[in-house]
Formats: sequence, C-alpha cells, structure tokens
Amino acid sequence: MKLKNFIQLLLLATVIMFTAPSCVKEGPIGLSGADGTNGLNGTDGKDGSVTCLACHSGNNMAQKAAEFATSAHSSGAIAVDYAGGRAGCARCHSHEGFVQFITLGINDLPVTNPSAWECSTCHGIHKTFEGKDYALRINAPVVPVVAANGTMDLKGSSNLCATCHQSRSAEPGTASPGANFTMTVRTYPHYSAQSNVLFGNGFAEIPGSVAYPTKGTADHFTKAGGSCVGCHMGTFAAKQGGHSYIPSLKACNDCHGGTPSTNYNYGGIQTDTQAKLTQLRDKLLALGVITKTTVDGVDTYAPKAGSVPMVQAQAVFNYFGIKYDRSLGVHNPKYVKALLVNTLEALNK
Ligand code: HEC
Ligand code: HEC
Ligand code: HEC
Ligand code: HEC
Ligand code: HEC
Ligand code: HEC
Repeated sequence: MKLKNFIQLLLLATVIMFTAPSCVKEGPIGLSGADGTNGLNGTDGKDGSVTCLACHSGNNMAQKAAEFATSAHSSGAIAVDYAGGRAGCARCHSHEGFVQFITLGINDLPVTNPSAWECSTCHGIHKTFEGKDYALRINAPVVPVVAANGTMDLKGSSNLCATCHQSRSAEPGTASPGANFTMTVRTYPHYSAQSNVLFGNGFAEIPGSVAYPTKGTADHFTKAGGSCVGCHMGTFAAKQGGHSYIPSLKACNDCHGGTPSTNYNYGGIQTDTQAKLTQLRDKLLALGVITKTTVDGVDTYAPKAGSVPMVQAQAVFNYFGIKYDRSLGVHNPKYVKALLVNTLEALNK
C-alpha cells in the first residue's frame, strides 16, 4: 500500500476506534449497588480494529498481492497492448478504461497510456466499512452490452467479473432476423462470453432434441458458493483460487463431495465438449463458412465474411462463442450440451 493510503487508513481506523461506541472492546463494568451486590456486566462492544484488520493486516494484503501477481489480469500481456487504449475497448481492457466506465459511465473515451489491472481497478472505496464490504467498484446486476440479452444478476461480487466477461454481439437471429445473414470475420460474441454461458443466455438457441435450461437456473450459478467468484476465487491453495483467479479444484471437490477429482474434467465434460466442438468446426469448414489459416504449424479458424443461410451463421456464432469461453462446458454443462447437440443436428439435416 502506498504511504499516503496507509496514512489515510490509519487516520480512518483511529477516528472509528475513538468515536464509534461500538468499537469499544469491553462495555462498562457493572456498577456495584448500595447493598454491595454486583450489578449487571455490560455487554462486549464490537472490536473496531479487528473489523478492519480482518482484511488490512499486512500479511493478508501482501498475500493477495502475491496471488494476484500470477493472474493474467496483472500482466495484461495480451489484452492491454492491443485494446487497452481504444475507445469502446478500454472499459474492459485497461485499468484506466474500467475506472472511467464505472465512475463516469462513459465507455468510449480513449486512454493515452493504458495499464494493466491493479488492486484499485476492482477495489474502490468502502461504503459501509463493515462485514463483507470489499469496496468493490461494482457488484450490482450487469446492464449488458447487448441490450437484447437482458439484465444479468450473476450474484454479488461476481457481477464485477461479468461487467467485463460478457458477450459483445447479439446472436445473428436477434441481430438481424431473416432467411440469410451477412457474416463478418467477427460473427461471434467476443472472447469473453463466460457470464452468458453461465447464465444461459445470448447464444443462438437453435431448436433441437435437447431442451435449453431456463435462464439463470444453472447449478453452478444458483448453488451457494458457485458463480465466478465461488470457482475462480475459492480459498487459495495449490496455486489456484484466491486472487490468481485460476479455477480452484478444491472448490469443485468441496462442493461436489465424493471422490475428489484431480482435474476439471469431471465425468469427461471437457473431453466431450472438445469432441463436439471439433465435429462442429469440421462441419463448418466443409460448408465453407469458416476459414482455416496455418502459420508455423498452428491452425487458426475464423468466420468467413459473406451472406449465408441464418442457421449457418448461428452455428458459427455458437462455435466460436463456446470455444472462446474456454471452460469446455464446465461453466454450464447443460446449456453447452444443448447448444452443441442442437446446432450439429440442424446442420446435418
Ligand atoms: C472485507 C475486507 C475489508 C475490510 C473488513 C476492510 N477493508 Fe479497507 N480495503 C479492503 C480492500 C480490498 C481495499 C482495496 C485495497 C487496495 O486498493 O490496496 C481496501 C481499501 C481501503 C482504504 C483505501 C486504501 C487505498 O489504498 O486507497 C482505506 C482507507 C480502508 N480500506 C480503510 C478501512 C478501514 C478503516 C476499515 C475498518 C473500518 C476497513 N478498511 C475494513 C478490504 C477491507
Ligand atoms: C465488455 C467487455 C469487453 C469489451 C468492450 C471488449 N473486450 Fe476484448 N476481451 C474482453 C475480455 C474479458 C477478454 C478476455 C477473455 C478471456 O481471457 O477469456 C477479451 C479478449 C480480447 C482479445 C483476445 C486476447 C487473447 O486472449 O488472445 C482480443 C483480441 C480483444 N479482446 C480485442 C478487443 C477489441 C479490439 C475491443 C474493442 C473493439 C474489445 N476487445 C472490447 C472483454 C471486452
Ligand atoms: C479483478 C478484480 C480484482 C482485483 C484486481 C483485486 N481484487 Fe481483491 N477482491 C476481488 C473480489 C471480487 C473480492 C471478493 C471475493 C468474494 O466475494 O469472496 C476481493 C476480495 C479482496 C479482499 C477481502 C477478502 C480476503 O480474503 O481478505 C482483500 C483483502 C483483497 N481483495 C485485496 C486485494 C489486493 C491487495 C489486490 C491487489 C494486489 C486486489 N485485491 C486485487 C476482486 C479483485
Ligand atoms: C476490467 C475488466 C475485467 C474484470 C473486472 C475482470 N476481468 Fe478477468 N480478464 C479481463 C481481460 C481483458 C482478460 C485477459 C487478460 C489478458 O490475457 O491479457 C481477463 C483474464 C481473465 C482470466 C484468465 C484468462 C487467461 O488468459 O488466463 C480469468 C480466469 C478471469 N479473467 C476471470 C475473472 C474473474 C473471476 C473476475 C472477477 C473476480 C474477473 N476476471 C474480472 C477483464 C476483466
Ligand atoms: C463451476 C466452476 C466455475 C464457474 C462457476 C466459473 N468458472 Fe470460469 N472456468 C472454470 C473452469 C474449470 C475453467 C477451465 C480452466 C481450464 O481448463 O484450464 C474456466 C475457464 C474460465 C476462463 C478461461 C481461463 C483460461 O485460463 O482459459 C475465464 C476467462 C473464466 N473461466 C471466467 C469466468 C467468469 C467470468 C465466470 C462467471 C461469469 C466463471 N468463469 C464462472 C470454472 C468455473
Ligand atoms: C457451489 C457448488 C459447486 C461448485 C463449486 C462446483 N460445482 Fe459442479 N455442480 C454442482 C451441482 C449442484 C451440479 C448439478 C448436480 C450434479 O450433477 O452433481 C454440478 C454439476 C456439474 C457437472 C455436470 C455433471 C453432469 O453429469 O451433468 C460438471 C461437469 C461439474 N459440475 C464440474 C465442476 C467443476 C470442474 C467444478 C470446479 C471448477 C465444479 N463443478 C464446481 C455444484 C458445484
């Protein structure tokens, strides 16, 4: 913590300890009555310094900083250079852009010297100073970039994540209904549709044999201890969880019970999702609606610009959206399965 901030903290803590009656450790000792019997003991007040020190002990903040140093947010290697300064991108791609967006409500201000995430990107100023007031810049339900997706409440702290980790484009059938759709090389939700997958919205729900779960009912979302923070910020252990944001296997195993798994591939979910994604990709290549480029032996795929039947554009959107979600089905096993099975069925008709 910077010296200025530390002094602020000390001042605040001092003011609170000396002015707030609830911060006195012991209540007044019971007065003795005239007849010599003891009066009632006063009840213990809350310990003001403990409330602050629950989080502000030197070690705790240092621990968070050490964990955070291992997060992709902290280096911002890919995201900041490319999009951190650009109007319309900066709100999710740099510290400055996000703070501008949250405090000014403006998301198209360019940033001249963008930097990566730091503590104060996500943590602003305390409001209540008690209990679980993490001083997060935002924890209200997300007003989505794609209005048609409807307000999404990812629950408490996880709304902070979803403010950035959300879709940026409506699915083709909603964006421009019709028999055909004019694709661009970016006909996909962006690289960040994780909260849409978890919530179960914003993808092309092509009808088929597997029913789509009702929005906002996913087990990983409704169950206490789930949502983004439950899995990605579970108690830091084995280099996972906490402020590393690396999904915590301990969180999976604690909630699931039974024999602990040694990887995220519960019941083969990731293997199965990958297999279906590969099938879908090959089908889209065969239809000629996506392109393949090979550089140094690495294959890259992209949507092919041009007018195609609606269902094919929707299939392209779903393919890239699920691929870029990168949990391979874990975020919402039922929704992802319904999307992939129904999309493949529709293309194979
Ligand atoms: C639930 C955890 C938690 C509790 C309890 C808590 N804080 Fe904080 N506080 C934080 C976090 C997280 C930050 C942001 C960290 C950062 O920016 O370095 C913060 C930041 C601050 C800052 C701003 C420091 C800066 O770097 O700008 C002050 C001042 C502060 N807290 C005072 C207090 C006081 C006084 C109390 C007790 C009445 C308290 N906090 C209780 C978590 C907590
Ligand atoms: C609503 C928030 C949001 C907006 C607006 C946004 N992005 Fe992103 N973008 C993200 C998130 C979150 C990720 C990281 C996803 C991940 O790591 O899985 C990302 C990832 C990316 C990546 C991929 C980096 C990689 O890992 O290879 C590129 C490229 C990118 N964004 C470009 C842009 C550009 C250019 C703009 C503006 C035209 C933009 N983004 C606007 C949220 C956003
Ligand atoms: C990407 C956003 C983000 C960044 C960056 C971030 N935090 Fe947090 N932090 C959170 C969220 C979300 C929570 C609340 C987690 C919860 O609800 O359980 C939290 C909770 C905390 C807490 C209280 C919980 C505890 O276990 O004590 C402390 C202290 C804290 N952060 C410190 C820091 C410090 C120090 C940094 C910088 C090194 C930092 N945070 C950077 C999102 C962030
Ligand atoms: C200000 C926007 C923003 C917020 C808030 C945010 N993220 Fe991110 N996150 C990003 C971007 C952009 C990237 C890509 C960083 C890069 O690769 O350079 C990213 C990367 C990640 C990654 C790592 C992906 C990888 O490439 O390893 C995970 C996991 C993640 N975020 C989860 C979370 C969680 C959980 C929260 C909430 C506690 C959160 N994020 C809050 C924008 C954000
Ligand atoms: C059920 C637990 C769970 C929940 C809930 C969850 N995640 Fe994940 N997330 C995972 C797993 C597991 C992976 C895949 C990690 C892997 O295979 O390396 C993942 C992958 C990611 C990635 C890509 C990271 C990478 O390294 O490739 C991002 C970004 C991400 N999640 C963000 C989020 C956000 C934002 C939320 C809330 C909207 C969320 N997650 C909710 C478990 C979860
Ligand atoms: C807060 C509790 C909770 C956490 C944390 C959690 N899960 Fe789950 N998960 C559930 C519940 C509840 C279900 C639905 C009931 C069931 O199938 O067991 C479920 C279902 C699943 C399914 C679908 C099972 C099937 O056969 O359809 C997979 C796969 C899964 N979880 C993987 C994970 C992974 C991997 C993690 C950690 C990254 C994780 N879960 C974390 C509660 C949790």
